[in-house]
This record gives sequence, C-alpha cells and structure tokens, in this order.
Amino acid sequence: MSNPYAWLEQSLKTIHRADWYRSVKTIQGSLGAVVALDGQEVINFASNDYLGLAGDKRLIEAATTAIQEFGTGSTGSRLLSGHRQLHSELETAIANLKQTQDCVVFSSGYLANLGAITALVGKRDLILSDQYNHSSLKNGAILSGATIVEYLHGDIEAVKQELHRTRNNYRRCLIITDSVFSMDGDLCALPALLDIAEEFNCMVLVDEAHGTGVLGGSGAGCVEHFDCTGRILIQMGTLSKALGSLGGYVAGSKSLVDFLRNRAPSWIYTTALSPGDTAAALAAIKIVQQEPQRRDRLWKNVAYLRQLFAELLPHLQLLPSQSPILCFQLANAGDAVRVGKELISAGIFAPAIRPPTVPTSRVRVTMMATHEREHIDKLAQALADSK
Ligand SMILES: Cc1ncc(COP(=O)(O)O)c(C=O)c1O
Repeated sequence: MSNPYAWLEQSLKTIHRADWYRSVKTIQGSLGAVVALDGQEVINFASNDYLGLAGDKRLIEAATTAIQEFGTGSTGSRLLSGHRQLHSELETAIANLKQTQDCVVFSSGYLANLGAITALVGKRDLILSDQYNHSSLKNGAILSGATIVEYLHGDIEAVKQELHRTRNNYRRCLIITDSVFSMDGDLCALPALLDIAEEFNCMVLVDEAHGTGVLGGSGAGCVEHFDCTGRILIQMGTLSKALGSLGGYVAGSKSLVDFLRNRAPSWIYTTALSPGDTAAALAAIKIVQQEPQRRDRLWKNVAYLRQLFAELLPHLQLLPSQSPILCFQLANAGDAVRVGKELISAGIFAPAIRPPTVPTSRVRVTMMATHEREHIDKLAQALADSK
C-alpha cells in the first residue's frame, strides 16, 4: 500500500543534507543576559529582549496581578467576551508612545501583519514589498490576494520606477517594509519611502518589531528616529521583543484602527491577548518612557562590540547595521553552524541563521542593555579563537 506521508521523510533528509535542519534548544530558569541552555550556562546574544525586560520584576508582578484579578485566559475574542479595560489601557499607552490617534493590539505580531494587510488590500490592489521583509509581511501580502512586486532590498529607485509604470493599473497601493530588518539589522529608508508614497498616493505599513523601545529619543521606534512622527502611515509592531511580553499592535489614525477592528480577520476571529501578557506589555511601555538610561546602555553596548570587532576581528565582515542586531557573514550554512557550535562550547549563545530564512548564511548577534562589558569581551574573545 502506498504511504501518502512518505515524502515527509524524504524532505527531512534533503533538509539535513543542505545543513538547513533546525530544532529547538531548551532555555532553563530565568531570562537575562546569562541563561542556562540545555543545562549549560551561556551568555545570551540570541534574544530579542533588547532592554532586558522579559525577566524584569515589575513586568512579572504586573502579569501576576492581572492573572490573579482576571484569570489566565481571556476566554473569547475582543468583540465577544475577551475585551478587558487592560486592553484599552495598553492601546492608549502605545498610541501615546507612538503619538498616533489610536492603536489596536493583536495576539501576536505575526497576526497583526496578517490582519492589517489582508484588511487593507485585495485583488484589485498592488503591494510593494522589500525583498528582506519578515515572513509575516510576506505571508500577509500573499493572503491578501493583491499583486505583489518584491523590490531589491532597500532599492527605493526601483519602488519609484515600478509606481511610475504601474500605479494607475491598481485601485490601492500599499508599501510594506521592516523598519529594522530583523536578520540584517539595517534600517529602511523611511523618509524617502514616505515621500514616494505621497507622490503616488500609496499607503505605507512599517513593521517596527525591532525598532520599538530601541530607536528614537523616547523609544517610539524608527519613525521617531527618522523624525517622521505625525506623518500619515501605518505603524505595526510587536510586544514580544524590547517590550518583553507577547502580542502585536497596529497604531495609526482613528479611522484606520476603527476599520481594522471591523475588518481584520486575525483580530476579529481569535482569542484576545491574555490578561498577563497585556499587563506585562503595559508595564514595559511605562519603563520604556521612564527609563531612557536602558536605551543608552544598550547603544553603549552596541558601540563597544563594534569597537572590538574593528580592533580584534577585522577578518569578520559585519553586515551593514544601524541597530543592536549585528551579523557577520559566513561562506555557507555548514560554516555558520560550525561557528555557532564553537561559540556554544565557549559559553556564548549566538545562533547561525541560514537559508531559507536569509539568502546568505550568517551568525546573528543581538545586544541587550543588561550585557556587562565582560560579556561582550568574552564574545569577542570566543570569535577571535574560532577558526
Ligand atoms: C520584523 C518582524 N515582524 C513581525 C514579527 C512577528 O512578531 P511576533 O513574534 O510577535 O509574532 C517578528 C518576529 O518574530 C519580526 O521580527
């Protein structure tokens, strides 16, 4: 009898052969700059917890209090039984941070992108998407049914030319881009994109997953960093990185948010963000606003690692980056995996990132505000020792 699932084994073999096989690693105990990984203590350069808030006592206390008051689950979608005052408070706090009229929180950043994009555009519309965009933007675009034109990474001139040629063939146009590219660490050319969008009557959705809490004077993100606060655009982000919790959001005009509450399927038809996650994110927003010294510390750490790379590791080519994500490229997936393993042996957790996540293999290092100088010294030493 033939087995309709036999192809799974074959596919797994192919994945192994290409050195693309991936599996989970278990982190034990509490989160921070040093963690226990599969029983071994390692310095953590693998997390998106840029401000070190995921293990912060105040977030833990806020989540615990909310769970005691409201329970563990939210029991339904926001439009049915799932809405709490806490959700409104969090949405107001994010809108306040971003200086937008309103905000809506989703149960994850991935769902925020899927929901927003599928609500905003459809078959008669055009999406222009950076080649290096996050999977959630790409899959949101596919799901929307719009025509997708993927432009070469950061190629603003290509965006302009495409719009010149084809804008009139479509009803709406949406430009989608990461603000901080998650697997490279560089920034999108937001001011130029917004100018082009204005010229060609396009909407812009910018994914601030890695910008929120990290970039800008008040931690509002890349939009603030580029002095674009107040310009008309759609700001999406996640609560799961610098904000140390779980969930996503879309911030923008009142009408945008009102529309999404009526039309975004991944908000309407899914269970509301849990009370614990909501309360933790709310506590994190307050810390982002009240403790700019955390951001200062993060950027000092980034500058220090860059200095060590320049002094001690000239053979390792850092990819262009203006964020706490620093990557150096390796010849192939096998080399990236080998260096990742050598680093683990030396007590450093910095993962190999390989195709299909990225076009070229690399090791990705993410900095935290809570790294000490000696942590960064150890990383540089381990890289210097690696062959
Ligand atoms: C750029 C970007 N957008 C969206 C997401 C999805 O966010 P979440 O993890 O909250 O689903 C991520 C991270 O996972 C990301 O890096």
